[in-house]
Formats: sequence, structure tokens, C-alpha cells
Amino acid sequence: MKAVTWQGRRDVRVEDVPDPRIEEPTDAVIRVTSTGLCGSDLHLYEVLTPFMTPGDILGHEPMGIVEEVGAGVPDLMAGDRVVVPFQIACGRCFMCETGLPTQCETTQVTGEGMGAALFGYTRLYGAVPGGQAEYLRVPQAQFGPIKVPEGPPDDRFVYLSDVLPTAWQAVEYAAVPPGGTLAVLGLGPIGDMSCRIALALGAERVFGVDLVPERLARAGRDGVQTYDLRAFDDEKALVHAIRDETGGRGPDAVIDAVGTEAHGSAAAKLAQTATGLLPRRLGAPLAERFAVDRLGALYMAIDLVRRGGTISLSGVYGGMADPMPMLTLFDKQIQLRMGQANVRRWTDRIMPYLTDEDPLGVEDFATHRLPLAEAPHAYEMFQRKQDGAIKILMQP
Ligand SMILES: NC(=O)c1ccc[n+]([C@@H]2O[C@H](COP(=O)([O-])OP(=O)(O)OC[C@H]3O[C@@H](n4cnc5c(N)ncnc54)[C@H](O)[C@@H]3O)[C@@H](O)[C@H]2O)c1
Ligand SMILES: [Zn+2]
Ligand SMILES: [Zn+2]
Repeated sequence: MKAVTWQGRRDVRVEDVPDPRIEEPTDAVIRVTSTGLCGSDLHLYEVLTPFMTPGDILGHEPMGIVEEVGAGVPDLMAGDRVVVPFQIACGRCFMCETGLPTQCETTQVTGEGMGAALFGYTRLYGAVPGGQAEYLRVPQAQFGPIKVPEGPPDDRFVYLSDVLPTAWQAVEYAAVPPGGTLAVLGLGPIGDMSCRIALALGAERVFGVDLVPERLARAGRDGVQTYDLRAFDDEKALVHAIRDETGGRGPDAVIDAVGTEAHGSAAAKLAQTATGLLPRRLGAPLAERFAVDRLGALYMAIDLVRRGGTISLSGVYGGMADPMPMLTLFDKQIQLRMGQANVRRWTDRIMPYLTDEDPLGVEDFATHRLPLAEAPHAYEMFQRKQDGAIKILMQP
């Protein structure tokens, strides 16, 4: 089959690889019909390269049709239409039962000290072959795949794999009080969808920050009050502008939907590039430290949120040795909630919004649909934010 493989820094290629097959009774194999490109893939494209191996199959936002199931997957059969969550979880362990499938004790990557395995996401998360491919082996298929009805286009459902539950959790963790205010840093797919969900759930005002004109414009059309980072002398000035809109206090909650690719200081960019270029063996320990310089968006969130407010972190940070401004966090009594989205915890609550009326606008959420064969172009365009690319779906 054809699959999008990682080959090196900013080098992905569509290659012929062996077809996946059932290896465990709890496996399923699906034929992928749509598969998303995510901001998290960009971390692998450039920043987290020391944790990748050439040939790794990328992707974690797939949906498709079940081809084959193992004997331990009673609820799925060939022909079912399913969306596959980005994380792999068993549904039966202590963590899964407490609503934290991201910490699944069956699939935890204990050798690396990490949580549940993820599709297409570095050896830190199990190096499981990903979903930007014609076919995908789905481990723990007795729990993960979400059955969806025939009829509506893939676009209606595909974001259940990641964007929707991630944004939903970001909003849930933000805990905006009724009639309250929320700022969302980063208006990529995650930030944009977080704004839509927050407004749908009754946030009074949502402020959105980015530095890409079409992303700002798109959020603006949804009723978000937008701020272009580039229009301000520095982050302090931006913080003041939003504070002024909230009686000088700052918003009740801030969602950081930027993460490790934050634009900001030039030093940070240098450190990232240097780490990405190092040989693997040298690169990994440094990559664990590099985030030192790349917490721009998080620092802004800490500064911006009102006292006693909540920061909800969905942007992924790669480093292990970030010097957190603990004193400020403590002094401001900020609740910092974070982590990968617990997909199945939220999907039943999201489903009622995926209707013909399409209140979250999922059916025209994708800005680009490309054949899988054009993945190298898709990655480049998404990373450089060219051609208005906000969300890209690929079709094998
Ligand atoms: N927690 C989860 O389960 C989960 C799931 C999916 C994605 N993510 C993470 O969420 C983040 C966003 O994902 P995405 O797909 O929307 O990615 P994206 O890269 O398209 O979006 C990030 C946006 O942030 C903007 N940005 C950069 N620096 C900024 C700054 N200093 N202030 C404000 N905006 C800034 C960029 O212009 C871009 O529009 C990524 O870090 C991704 O890894 C987390
Ligand atoms: Zn994703
Ligand atoms: Zn589990």
C-alpha cells in the first residue's frame, strides 16, 4: 500500500510499504477514506526529529471502512464506517475507566515513561504506524473506533479523531463561567474549533490571537474578537489590549492552542533549528531541553488570564526541562490543566452537534482536500501556512 513516511527533517515521502494485517485478536484493519494533517504532525516534521526513525508512517486523524477484525472485536464488522481516535486505549483498565484513555495502562509506553500509545507519533509514543496511508492496523479496536452512519460526507465525522475532542476538552478544562470571557491563543484548527465550541456552549465573549491573516479572518467571521500578534510592539502590549476589554482584569480563561511551534523570540527559532539538525544520538537529550525558549504562548497565557482564572493547555510542548514560572502560577492561583484529549470521554457529547444543520461548521472546516500522493506538498504548505491552508484532509 501507499503511506506517508517520515524520512528526515522536512522530508516526508509517499512510499510503498507492506499492507498491515491483523496481529492480535483485538486488532482491526481499516481502509482509510479521509485522513487529516495536524499541527502535531508539524512537530514531527521539524522539531521532534530526534525521536523519529526514517520510514515511520505518519498520521493520527483517520476514518474509513473496516476491512477485517480480530476475534476479540465483537462490536465491529467488515464494512462498518468508523473514525479512529488518535490515541490507542483498551477501555477496560483503571485509567480508561476513570475517563483518561490518554493514560491507558494497557498501552502506556512505559519504556519511555509516557502515556498511552498514539498513532503515527514518534518512539516516545510507541512508534505505531499511522493513518496517513491506504490501510491502517488499529490495535485495541474493541474500544477505539467510533462507528458513524452512512450517508453524510467524511468531513462531518473525521474530526472526531482529534480536532473535536481536543477542542472540546480545551473548552471543558477552561471552565469559562456562565457569561464569562475566554481568550484563545492560536487559531489553527484546534484554536478555531475551540472558539466555535466555546461560543456554542455559551461563552459571552471570545478573544482570538494569531498572526496569520486568513486564520484571524475565519475566526472573526464566527464572532471571535481577533487580535493580530504582529500589530503589537510586544506580547505585553497585546495582553494590555485584551485586559482593557475585560475591565482591566483579563479573561476568565485562556486556551493555549499554540504549543511548541510558537512564533516569538528569534533565539527560540535558532534553538529549534539547531536541535532539528543534530544527529539523532546527540539530538534527543537536547530536544528534551529545547523548549526552554519556546514557551512564548504559555507565558502570554499566564500573563493574560485574570487572577483566579484558568489556563487550559492543548498545545503540545516537547521539552522536559522548561523552567516554569511557578511563582507566578502559584501567586495568581491559576489552574493549569493539560494533557492529550481523552477522546472517548467527549465523543458522545459532541455527536449531537454533528447534524445537517452543522452548528460547528465541520463540513466546510477543511480548506484543502488533496490526494494522499500529494502529502509532501501538503506538509510544506501547512507548515508554511501558504495558500490559506488551515485544515488539510487527504484522500488515499
Ligand atoms: N492536546 C491534544 O490532544 C492535541 C491534539 C491536537 C493538536 N494538539 C496541539 O495543539 C496545537 C495546535 O494544533 P493545530 O492543528 O491547530 O496547529 P497549527 O500549527 O495549525 O496552529 C497553531 C497556530 O498558532 C499560531 N501561533 C504561533 N505562535 C503564536 C503565538 N505566539 N501567539 C498566538 N498564536 C500563535 C500559528 O500561527 C497557528 O495558526 C499544536 O501544538 C498541536 O500539537 C494537541
Ligand atoms: Zn492531530
Ligand atoms: Zn486502558
